[in-house]
Parts: sequence; C-alpha cells; structure tokens
Amino acid sequence: MGLAAAAAAAVRPCRRRLLSSASTSAASKTAAGTATRLFPRLPHPHQPPYGRRLPFLVSAASQSQASQAGPATPVPVPVPSDPRAAVSGNLPFFDRVLFPDSFPLETPPAREEEDAAAVEPAAPLREETETEREAWRLLRRAVVSYCGEPVGTVAAEDPECTETLNYDQVFIRDFVPSALAFLMRGETEIVRNFLLHTLQLQSWEKTVDCYSPGQGLMPASFKIRTVPLDENNEGFEEVLDPDFGEAAIGRVAPVDSGLWWIILLRAYCKITGDNALLERVDVQTGIQLILSLCLADGFDMFPTLLVTDGSCMIDRRMGIHGHPLEIQALFYSALRCSREMLVVNNGSKNLIRAINNRLSALSFHIREYYWVDMKKINEIYRYKTEEYSHDATNKFNIYPEQIPSWLVDWIPEKGGYLIGNLQPAHMDFRFFSLGNLWAIASSLTTPKQAEGILSLIEEKWDDLVANMPLKICYPAMEDDEWRIITGSDPKNTPWSYHNGGSWPTLLWQFTLACIKMGRPELARRAIAVAEERLSDDKWPEYYDTRSGRFIGKQSRSYQTWTIAGFLTSKMLLENPELASILTCDEDLELLEGCACCLSTKRTRCSRRAAKSHTG
Ligand code: GLC
Repeated sequence: MGLAAAAAAAVRPCRRRLLSSASTSAASKTAAGTATRLFPRLPHPHQPPYGRRLPFLVSAASQSQASQAGPATPVPVPVPSDPRAAVSGNLPFFDRVLFPDSFPLETPPAREEEDAAAVEPAAPLREETETEREAWRLLRRAVVSYCGEPVGTVAAEDPECTETLNYDQVFIRDFVPSALAFLMRGETEIVRNFLLHTLQLQSWEKTVDCYSPGQGLMPASFKIRTVPLDENNEGFEEVLDPDFGEAAIGRVAPVDSGLWWIILLRAYCKITGDNALLERVDVQTGIQLILSLCLADGFDMFPTLLVTDGSCMIDRRMGIHGHPLEIQALFYSALRCSREMLVVNNGSKNLIRAINNRLSALSFHIREYYWVDMKKINEIYRYKTEEYSHDATNKFNIYPEQIPSWLVDWIPEKGGYLIGNLQPAHMDFRFFSLGNLWAIASSLTTPKQAEGILSLIEEKWDDLVANMPLKICYPAMEDDEWRIITGSDPKNTPWSYHNGGSWPTLLWQFTLACIKMGRPELARRAIAVAEERLSDDKWPEYYDTRSGRFIGKQSRSYQTWTIAGFLTSKMLLENPELASILTCDEDLELLEGCACCLSTKRTRCSRRAAKSHTG
C-alpha cells in the first residue's frame, strides 16, 4: 500500500459521526481548521498530546536520531523514506491456511442497532450445545466498538462485581482466544481492527526517562473513553487510552503483549490470506519495533529474555523475574512468526539475521538447560559445585539441596517438563503450564520433549487438571516462601489465583499442544471436565484449592478469556488443521547455526550434537 493510501486507511471519520448528533454550528466551529487526528487518544504523560506518529510520517531528522542510537540498539529499525521500498521484498515462508469448505467466510453484516446479546452466531457445522450457544452470546456481549467498529473484547463483564478495576479494558493477551474464536468462525474484521488499532497505540517515542514506555512496547490493555471536544460539551470524540503498566496494579510492564500481537498477526494473515495488511509499512515497522526492543543489547549474556517480575499472564509478584519460561516460549514463537512475516529487503536483513541467531541459541539453551526429567534430576542431585572453568558440568552452580522435596516424589519415570526459570545458582522447579504448552506449540522443545510434557500432564492429571483444567503452576508456594516471594500477597495465597490456581482459559493452549502432538483425546478429556462446570459456575476467571474444586476467592464471573478459551478449544478440536495458524514445526536448520557460548568448548553445536543433547 502506498503512502497516501496507508494514511487514508488510517483516518477514521469517527469525530464527525459523533458530532452529527451534537449541534451543527458547534460541529462546524470545532471541525473548521482542525485536522482529523489519526486514532486520537488521551495524552500520555511524557508524550506529545496528538497521539503517535505513523511510521511513514517520521521526519528525516528523527531517522538520523534513530541511527545515532548507539550500542544499546544493535538492530536499528529501518524507517524507509520511500515506504514502497519496504514492500519490494517477498514473504518467503508464508503459507496461507484455507478455511474448511463448510466455514462461513464472510463477516456477517454488523447490526449496530440491535442488542448485541440478540445477535446469533454464524451457522455452525453441527448443532451447538446449549453451553456453546451461551458462550457465543456472552462473547459477543463482551465486544467493544471504537468509532462504530468492533475492536476487541473486555476482560470481564460481571454484572455482580462492583469493583471493575481494569477488567472493563481490552487486554492484549486476553483478546487472543477471542480473536481465534472469531477467526475460526470467519469473522475476521474485529481481529483486523484490533491489530491495527493496537498498532497505533504501540509506544513510538524513543524514551530513556522513567515511567514512560520504551519504543516498541505494546500496552497491556486499552480502554475506549468518550471525551468532550471542547469545554461546552457539545461534541464528543472517542479515544483509545492505553495502559503500559503505568496504572496497573504493581506498575508491571507487559512484555508479553507485543509477542502476542505478532503471534496473532500471523494467525490472522494465515487464515485470511490478507497479505496486503502484512505488507503495510506500519505493520512491518510495528513488528520490527517489537523485535528491536526484545533484541536490544543488555548486560545479560543468555539468549533468553531478561524481564522483571509479573511481566506476563502472571502480572503480580510471583518470583518470576529473570528468565521465566512463559516469556521465553512466547519470545521464541514471536521470533518464528516474524521470520515468516518480515519482508526481506536491505532494511530488514540485519534484523532477520539477528532473529535467526537468537532462535538457534534460544532453542539450544531452553532444550538443554530448562529440561528436567528423572535422569536430569538425578544428575543435578549428584552435581559438584563451585566449578570455575569453561567446561563445567554444573554451569549455573546449582546446589543440589535446591531440589525441592515435592519434586523427588513427583517427577514421573516417563516424561518431563521445562522448569519455570533459570538464574545463576537458581532453578525454579515449578511447573508452569502456559510456558510448557507454548513451548510445544512453537517447537521450542524437541518433539521428544513435547511428547514428554504431555505424558507428564497425563500422568499428573489429578494435580494439573483434577476438577478444572488447568493449573497455572504447580505446586503452590506456602508459608515463608509465600511470605517472602509474593510479599504476603492475599490474592496469591497457596492454591489460589496465580499461586497454584486453576485457569480455564489455559484449555485452548492445552488443546493446541495436544493437537500438534497428535493427542486430541487428552484435550477432549480436559474439555469435558471444564464443560461440566463452566456455565453453571458463570464462567469464572479462575478456581482455587489443590484440585480446583472451588470458584476462586476473588474470581470474576463471565471472564471473557474463559469463555473464548472454551469456544476456541472446541473449534480447534473440530478443525485440527486450523491449529497450524498458531503452531510452528521443528526447524533443523536452526540447530545448525547454534553457536552457544555456554557450550563447553565454545564450538558450534551441530545439528547432531544439539539433537543428542535432548535426544
Ligand atoms: C489478571 C491476570 C492477567 C489478565 C487480567 C485481565 O490481571 O493476571 O493475566 O490479563 O487479569 O483478565
């Protein structure tokens, strides 16, 4: 798309539409001489009041500023002076997934005037169950519009809850299962709108000061506000107001948002074949900004991404600072997706090289150092410590006393899993579901490890699924550990919320992993457990207790990603071929290029060596 066309596509006649209901004289007064803003938003502290500049409007001066960014930004984002230059390459790996014949391809026409709850879903392949019908009704009720167009779903719509907090916002991570349900139903418009509007919210300024988002950061959530155009309150406009963590409880910055955005972009493009969107300069630049932020040099030498506590789905203090598995799995997946989507040209070739290098090192590192099974635990149990040398066996100086007593009995003979975190002298042995499942989906693990993880879940069904799939992590932290690590967080008491609670939204990721590994029967079993209770329990956000028997102490009802996760799981099971919009296959080429600094002789690890590590 050329410059003018892209700019025109970005302008929404929102303000005028709202003005038409106000007095016309006020309308002409305020509209005269005022340029319509591109996606207007509330001013952000430390940011100019007129929203973000679009990439193709960036001046030559700021381009040269960007190129002088120095060593902290090794992969500068190319901002082409001629936007067409960015689309002259090709998309080498990109395969479109076709809808099954029976799928409705057209988005049903919007019926704005009607009560959203009355809108029936598009024709299903088979008779839907009552629970599915209710889920679709609730999912549609959660849809929010901006300038008359659907742009996302609120996190929860719980009529009985008086304390809304930020659950009335559209969270990037929460919207993913909603988006998938809509995509698989052929309703693609809401996803396209979401992708483009959140792109406009992405932090575009280069900031070095505190309390403002760094360039490339995607918000955790956004809200649509209606604000007066002037003091007379005669006309109003809608603005998208993002939260990068400045207002969030604990002020946590969302590292996962940008990664999810990339993953969803690929899923959308694979299912719709909308390459025109993918090739847009603003979309290409958005991907590059996210990746540049992730690939920027720091003090860390690991290929894993170094983050603060609470930077993902677990957005409270839970001892997951450092290199938590969830972020690494999403990072790997986003890198794989980006590699398929980035247009190859002079401006992007360095970034693509950096992506390939990182992918190789990251997969080696996780496969080798995060994987535990019976054999590995036994090795750690006999580790020597304080080894100073390049060829140390116990590279991270792990003291065997760290092996928790629960693990000694818990680790099954067959199978294994990726640990939650790895730092010097510290292995977090907790099992985190999302990270493990997403590592399967993205092929961050070897196929054998992926099988091993599912086999462990099957073996430990009563701990990880029990009365409600799926435990967010296992086991819970108790007593002093809970006091010190969570800071005595009353929401994260043992076996509640993030600390060993059960989250039905994780069902869709479990289903995805099961389909990828050819084990749909496991997913079917888990879905049946959830289907028993979700509707009767009013679609809770999470469940409490060791076996997930009680609805969570402070759980919202009608939590959108619970609803959407259920629908997405069912639809994926019925159309397993659609799983490929989210998954990546094992790429042996990547293992070839792995130059791992942590390997004993600093030699390149060959494909065979890398495979034999994890065999
Ligand atoms: C909670 C969850 C977070 C989710 C948000 C909205 O903060 O921890 O993962 O995105 O609620 O549902």
